[in-house]
Amino acid sequence: MTGYVFNAISLSVAGSLSSHVHMGNGLEKDRLPRHVAIIMDGNGRWAQRRSLGRIEGHKRGKDAVENVVEMCREIGIEYVTLYAFSTENWQRPPTEVRALMALLQRYLRNELQQMMKKNVRLRAVGDLNRLPPKVRDSLEAVMTATRHNTGLTVILALSYGAREEIIHAARTLAAAVQRGELSPQDITEQHLTQVLWTADIPDPDFLIRTSGEFRLSNFLLWQLAYTELYVTDTLWPDFTRDEFLRALANYQSRERRFGRTTEQQPASEPRRATR
Ligand code: FPP
Repeated sequence: MTGYVFNAISLSVAGSLSSHVHMGNGLEKDRLPRHVAIIMDGNGRWAQRRSLGRIEGHKRGKDAVENVVEMCREIGIEYVTLYAFSTENWQRPPTEVRALMALLQRYLRNELQQMMKKNVRLRAVGDLNRLPPKVRDSLEAVMTATRHNTGLTVILALSYGAREEIIHAARTLAAAVQRGELSPQDITEQHLTQVLWTADIPDPDFLIRTSGEFRLSNFLLWQLAYTELYVTDTLWPDFTRDEFLRALANYQSRERRFGRTTEQQPASEPRRATR
């Protein structure tokens, strides 16, 4: 379904306090989050409620991934990060791990053509060496093929754990210190940011978590420092386009102060997580 988001772009003149460009879906184009991160939770419960196996829930979760990615592209969001498989998920029953890896492989195989056609770039963060070789190869192939695309960037967090990422970053900086390239007292936020797996990706502006749990589950702990959080009871396979629009409208209703007062906010500046 294309065209639905953009078919009525108009300038808000009514009330004229704002000159924000409104899109046909009620959102303001100049106040969209640049980067949306999503904890896709509730596939298992979705299946359980229908007396289906958990894997059926993951299959429906994959459909929801495709919808949300397409919508991000249509709306004009620049980055979307999807928590597809955590470090802790390796502890799940082997049949479930295998099914998730197979789904991922199918997704990569099916999406390559679409990603090329729609100018989408794929990236991944996590301990990718732990992935089965076939999945890793498919992932590398799609990342390589799409690396020069300039539209939406989709980032899959795979075998991802934020603490592992931070440990990896600490080791990289420690090695630079050991080589005499850096002094411990000179280490800044910038240095750490540059050695994370997310190095050249801006911090998420907005985090969505489905299925009603209020926790971060070891996801992007460094990068989410100033991110707006949104939790919905909706289970991931039921996360529809309307639900996504509601979440984005909620984001646009917020004031992001980054530790400053309301009066200190520049009036015309889009409220983004640039810290
Ligand atoms: C959490 O639900 C979801 C996951 C651990 C996996 C996410 C995977 C997908 C959405 C499908 C495949 C992804 C891609 C990118 C193609 P849960 O199983 O923890 O649900 P529960 O908490 O209800 O048990």
